[in-house]
Amino acid sequence: MKFVLLAVAFFATLSLQRSVRYARNESTDFTAPLQFRKDGTFQISILEDLHFGENAWDTWGPQQDINSVKVINKVLDAEHPELVVLNGDLITGENTFLENSTKYVDQIVGPLVERGLSWASTYGNHDHSFNVTGATILARERRWPNARTRQMVTGDDAGISNYYLPVHDPACTSSDCAPELILWFFDSRGGWRYQQKDANGNKVGQPDWVDVGVVNWFTQTNAELTNKHQKTIPSLAFVHIPTNASLALQEAGVDGHKQPGIDDDAPLAQQAQGWCPDGRDDGDACSYGGQDVPFMQALTTTPGLLAVFSGHDHGDTWCYKWDGVLPGMTVAGRGLNVCFGQHTGYGGYGSWERGARQVLVTRDKLREEKAVDTWIRLESGNVVGRVSLNATYGQDKYPATPNTKTSCPTCNYTSVTPMPGTKRRRSRHGPVDT
Ligand SMILES: *[C@@H]1O[C@H](CO)[C@@H](O)[C@H](O)[C@H]1NC(C)=O
Ligand SMILES: *[C@@H]1O[C@H](CO)[C@@H](O)[C@H](O)[C@H]1NC(C)=O
Ligand SMILES: *[C@@H]1O[C@H](CO)[C@@H](O)[C@H](O)[C@H]1NC(C)=O
Ligand SMILES: *[C@@H]1O[C@H](CO)[C@@H](O)[C@H](O)[C@H]1NC(C)=O
Ligand SMILES: *[C@@H]1O[C@H](CO)[C@@H](O)[C@H](O)[C@H]1NC(C)=O
Ligand SMILES: *[C@@H]1O[C@H](CO)[C@@H](O)[C@H](O)[C@H]1NC(C)=O
Repeated sequence: MKFVLLAVAFFATLSLQRSVRYARNESTDFTAPLQFRKDGTFQISILEDLHFGENAWDTWGPQQDINSVKVINKVLDAEHPELVVLNGDLITGENTFLENSTKYVDQIVGPLVERGLSWASTYGNHDHSFNVTGATILARERRWPNARTRQMVTGDDAGISNYYLPVHDPACTSSDCAPELILWFFDSRGGWRYQQKDANGNKVGQPDWVDVGVVNWFTQTNAELTNKHQKTIPSLAFVHIPTNASLALQEAGVDGHKQPGIDDDAPLAQQAQGWCPDGRDDGDACSYGGQDVPFMQALTTTPGLLAVFSGHDHGDTWCYKWDGVLPGMTVAGRGLNVCFGQHTGYGGYGSWERGARQVLVTRDKLREEKAVDTWIRLESGNVVGRVSLNATYGQDKYPATPNTKTSCPTCNYTSVTPMPGTKRRRSRHGPVDT
């Protein structure tokens, strides 16, 4: 009895410490725009490729999810971001059951809600599947007031997670003041169309690039913002699947000291992979269709856009300054930084140590040097790949990132069985039915 009382007191103290420590309270208004801290900084933690919901019918799938939650807690105990970005592949959609496919969202955002943090998602190819899709994930996210994910472009071909979030000076009190920073989010789609089958009973593939309609919305909206505020507003972008520029940069050579990070996924998978230039969905006939060219053009010609952050290729974690025209390409880079994050979840392929890229925006540095700082916080607590994405990024020398691997401590992968009622093998970038 005494023990029980003590235990209750102990846990009450623990939870009080938590709420004090995270210094936000129930009256936090997540509908108000994001703000820089009073010290002029704004930090983003990027969680990507969480891949919740794998093999719920085996013991290892749910164990992976438990361990992924631990990674999120570890990262957020060490870092104190203003915003968390869930940069695609939240859920392994092809393993989900229609009736509860979005429930995994609650597990993912639990550690964020507990800390009073808000988040913004982009959806990945595995989030778009037969039993789950961007629209249903968004609806589940929006049950929480902390969700800042939106859909600003409608249409069957747009995908869902296309929107922007302004970040303001804390001194800004009116909706008219110019944002200090704009965060753009794009849906690179892919995977399968929700609840659709063709005449032969096969699932219907969805294009895996940012649609040209979304590109037009982006350039137009950005022009309107520039015009309204009569200035170029610095910005960052997030999209799950990287563009072909990342592949071209990788082929140009990733230098472990100049572009610190792991470079194990080579050649990497990019937007429009597996599609033909004429729009046929035929991975056997064509390896790349080039449909991401309008998106690349828009990114590189947007003044003030400093960096674009992707996931998808779990074994690539570098940032590269894309300058000039690369061999085989027509689009010129103009100094845009293209970055991968770090595989955060125990779900999904690969055993590179789990972690999360951090982006620290400092208002003065943004204004004066047009630069942001970034690093990767690993599950072990170690920090790797700390760099400044400034004017000399790509020339500056940094310590190389060690290629550390870990495995799920409580997962028994001995028995891997197909989803009840199906015969399925797992593949790297999408489900393959046999
Ligand atoms: C809760 O947060 C609001 C807005 O940040 C602040 O004005 C208020 O003082 C806080 N209340 C407590 C009890 O900390
Ligand atoms: C969803 O339902 C399946 C099948 O009944 C079950 O194995 C799985 O644990 C459920 N997932 C969640 C998140 O509730
Ligand atoms: C979708 O969910 C249903 C209902 O749980 C399940 O029977 C079916 O196997 C799932 N289909 C696919 C393609 O995942
Ligand atoms: C994509 O990148 C590859 C590798 O560098 C290059 O050969 C190809 O021409 C590029 N395609 C386009 C459309 O940029
Ligand atoms: C960019 O950052 C690096 C690392 O902090 C620094 O050594 C370098 O001088 C910076 N470049 C400029 C142009 O400020
Ligand atoms: C792992 O699973 C296999 C197959 O179900 C079982 O035979 C084995 O005993 C399990 N190993 C551990 C360490 O639990």
